[in-house]
Amino acid sequence: MRILLLGASGSIGSQTIDVINKNPQDFTLVGFSVGKRTRCISYILKKHKEVRYIYLIDASKAKQYSKKYPHVNFLSSKDHQLSDLVDLVDFDMAVNALVGFSGLLPSIKVLEKNKKLALANKESLVVAGELINKLLDEGKGELYPIDSEHSALWKCLKVNDQGVKKMILTASGGAFRKLNRSELKDVKAAEALKHPTWKMGAKITIDCATMVNKCFEIIEAGYLYRYPYSKIGVMLHDESYLHSYLSYLDGSFRGEISKPDMRNPIKFALYQGNIPFSTQSFSSLTDLKGLHFHEFDPSRYPLVSLAKLVLLKKGTYGAVLNRANEEAVHAYLKDEIAFLDIERIIFKLMKEHKNVHNPSLDDLIRVDNDVNNKTHLIIEKIKKGEMRW
Ligand SMILES: NC(=O)c1ccc[n+]([C@@H]2O[C@H](COP(=O)([O-])OP(=O)(O)OC[C@H]3O[C@@H](n4cnc5c(N)ncnc54)[C@H](OP(=O)(O)O)[C@@H]3O)[C@@H](O)[C@H]2O)c1
Repeated sequence: MRILLLGASGSIGSQTIDVINKNPQDFTLVGFSVGKRTRCISYILKKHKEVRYIYLIDASKAKQYSKKYPHVNFLSSKDHQLSDLVDLVDFDMAVNALVGFSGLLPSIKVLEKNKKLALANKESLVVAGELINKLLDEGKGELYPIDSEHSALWKCLKVNDQGVKKMILTASGGAFRKLNRSELKDVKAAEALKHPTWKMGAKITIDCATMVNKCFEIIEAGYLYRYPYSKIGVMLHDESYLHSYLSYLDGSFRGEISKPDMRNPIKFALYQGNIPFSTQSFSSLTDLKGLHFHEFDPSRYPLVSLAKLVLLKKGTYGAVLNRANEEAVHAYLKDEIAFLDIERIIFKLMKEHKNVHNPSLDDLIRVDNDVNNKTHLIIEKIKKGEMRW
């Protein structure tokens, strides 16, 4: 299968390269994108001789690389959009390992072109779950999740999707899981970046500390598996070994238990679920010796509740949530705002938003731009000490 990899320089991107390297008989890398980090280009090209297109942001670097690798077309942000790769490259499956809103347009284009999409970029579903499901319902493209929780649920549903009471997403609780809310006042980004169980990109690591990530994953599960909000739950789990599970009406449970390693869900998505896997049935979480679980307390992680609004009201709420979070996280990573400002910003903008039902892609882009501007105004006020909550 010919693979187009979007976001090759990132955490999921580099692990996707590992999976392709280990399975050269089944996958051929034909194109990829990086952003600002270009050092992986030579490493990847050394092994993958079929690559003909590469996108990167910096035009002068693209020129330098073109001279070094004349058989490859280097596109840069000066003349191209990242999603142009989807039109130019001859591929069977695109792996979307981009972070944030930048992944949305490529996701939509891949499906519109009736191709397979292995999706790590959960933001695509948060912003445009309705649009993506509409495309799938029209028979456009195929969607395979890469998130570890959703990969686990996919496997469990493959074994038994009858009589499911609830799907439960497990959550590590992030870097600050041992702190109470009053202790969150002064926590810095450098500490938030120390995730207890996973090594990931900076944005998702902060999203884990705020639990926006779990909010996103509830929305993702809702759209992927067409489950209502009321049938999706969260359980805190210290070790990240139980990747998520289903509870059944007969009182039993089924989950996937394995060492946390994103190469497993990446591989499962690349093979479209057609490789051996194992899930475990259990009658109680206490049966899982050595693994620790805690009830999820919504008041400790209030942002998770926004998944309800997004899944019930739909429309443009997901776009607001995503952009407000994306910009607030960037500002927090630069130490411009406090940790708890992230949730203050998101709640304020979600509260002020007038929802647009059945949004088009243009509507979503317009709301994204609008929220981007509003978030920056708030961040400037915070920096000047003028923001009153
Ligand atoms: N990491 C994990 O273990 C994990 C697990 C589950 C789900 N996910 C999801 O997978 C996605 C990727 O996460 P990650 O941790 O791999 O992120 P990451 O390490 O930050 O990598 C993100 C990739 O996107 C590229 N990128 C970002 N903005 C871009 C832009 N404007 N133009 C072009 N390229 C751009 C980056 O390029 P440069 O870095 O070169 O600029 C990089 O290649 C996210 O949606 C995340 O929620 C990640």
